Amino acid sequence: MQFVRYRRSDWFALPGDFEWPLIGNFIQMYGPAKESRQFKYISPAFRRFGPIFRFRAFGTRLVFLADPEAAKIVFTSKAYHKGPELQQAFVGINQYGLPVLPDGATWKRHRRNCQPAFSPASLRLAFAAANKHVDHLSHSLRKAAQATGQGTVVMNLKRITRSILTDVMGDVLLSHSFGRTKTLFDANGQPVNEEDDRDEILDVKRLFAPVAVRMVTPSWMWRLKLIEKGEMVIPRGYYRHHAQAENSEETAPRDMVKSLAPDATHDMLDRLIETEAFDDEELIDEIFAFMLAGHDTTASALLFLIFELASNTPVRERLLREIAEVVSPDVGAAASHSQMTYEHLSRLPYLDCVIKELFRVHPVTRDIVRTVREPTVLMGYKLPVGTTISVQTADLNMDPRVWKNPKTFDPDRFADGAPLQQKTIVFGIGQHVCIGEKMAIVELKAAVVALLRQFTFRVIPGQDIVPINSITTTLVNGLMVEITPL
Ligand code: HEM
Repeated sequence: MQFVRYRRSDWFALPGDFEWPLIGNFIQMYGPAKESRQFKYISPAFRRFGPIFRFRAFGTRLVFLADPEAAKIVFTSKAYHKGPELQQAFVGINQYGLPVLPDGATWKRHRRNCQPAFSPASLRLAFAAANKHVDHLSHSLRKAAQATGQGTVVMNLKRITRSILTDVMGDVLLSHSFGRTKTLFDANGQPVNEEDDRDEILDVKRLFAPVAVRMVTPSWMWRLKLIEKGEMVIPRGYYRHHAQAENSEETAPRDMVKSLAPDATHDMLDRLIETEAFDDEELIDEIFAFMLAGHDTTASALLFLIFELASNTPVRERLLREIAEVVSPDVGAAASHSQMTYEHLSRLPYLDCVIKELFRVHPVTRDIVRTVREPTVLMGYKLPVGTTISVQTADLNMDPRVWKNPKTFDPDRFADGAPLQQKTIVFGIGQHVCIGEKMAIVELKAAVVALLRQFTFRVIPGQDIVPINSITTTLVNGLMVEITPL
């Protein structure tokens, strides 16, 4: 172990803004954090201070980082770890889910036993489920567009992508039909664009409100009404019910899974159960964690993907040419009968580049966090134990030292076929690297190909396109698009 004596002056050797007594930099972040737009402070600060700077809010010391080499060190060196803080903040909410487990034996057991749930058969299932739900949606979209008399329909793309991914994850995780894509249309087949203000399936806002407060308050305060787990009992109970009610009339029969992908006879819950490694609490938490980690992320990625393709004609046309050559030249309703197969995926190199570029420009998970485990030195700065290191992927991916014209959406940056991990860390690196990366990419590819072959998307001009960063980056108001069936 490296011995480093830490002095107060070492902290101030790091670049950073003036720190107020007690509250530190809380004031500078307060406004952006209230809007879930912390990047409004962080990104300009990188331009002012360089790729590493300090930040303190009350007793919490944070170092923001956007240097590729230093980021690799943080994720792979023993001087840093995933500490217990996140799990503590999730107690009673989702404390046994893989994404919150700290380094150690429990995390290792969970990681090892979750792996079978991400087998190639599950990927095929995810692929089939994405195709199925886009197909159902396409049918309704076509009917709605016809009903308007103009052959187009205007909808909020965020609602569409969230609904698709909710339904896909329902199938893949626990053979349960959430039926979200159906709620996009009313009884007359007309689109419903208002967001549900209460989502019993995955109420992310309510989930993270207490977690966010817990992260910055001492545990004795958590008993206060404001911070208690309260609302979260609802979605947790909801999952318990659906996971356990596999034979009830409320859940689709598990045979449905077989019809989706004949070689995938098990959903992810079945695979977790088979390992016999988890008790009931852990099972529920893992399923809910997969839903949390795998639904919003991929839905936001699909939202940004369609946004980029709608705004970038040369990229879209080249992609469509590749799909026509490899899959089939069918478009419109005919395309749903000549679907892309799972085997096509490896024969669409340009699609692969488009997805990689999507994750560079819209990394979706903007910050990945570690804690200093033993005194260490990073980029020449001494760091005390307990400091949180927040690696900012979005800023890394826009670094002009690494990327030429970083703001341009240019899939050819990835034409050399190098794995995404080699060039960016959007799915993390090291032992905690995203376990669902392949699943997310399969779902995205299936969904975007099916949608592009059947519709054109035009972003409605003049709307406020406001990115926020709650857990994932998304657009606060969504994105209104005009959808025209081909
Ligand atoms: C666009 C899609 C996705 C993105 C950008 C993404 C990103 C990430 C990142 C950056 C990490 C690493 C966090 C760290 O190092 O601390 C991670 C971990 C994780 N992801 Fe994903 N993810 C995506 C989709 C999924 C999906 C589809 C699932 C599951 C169905 C999933 C499940 C997980 C889990 C369980 C972990 C924790 C792994 C561990 O700590 O061992 N993710 N993800």
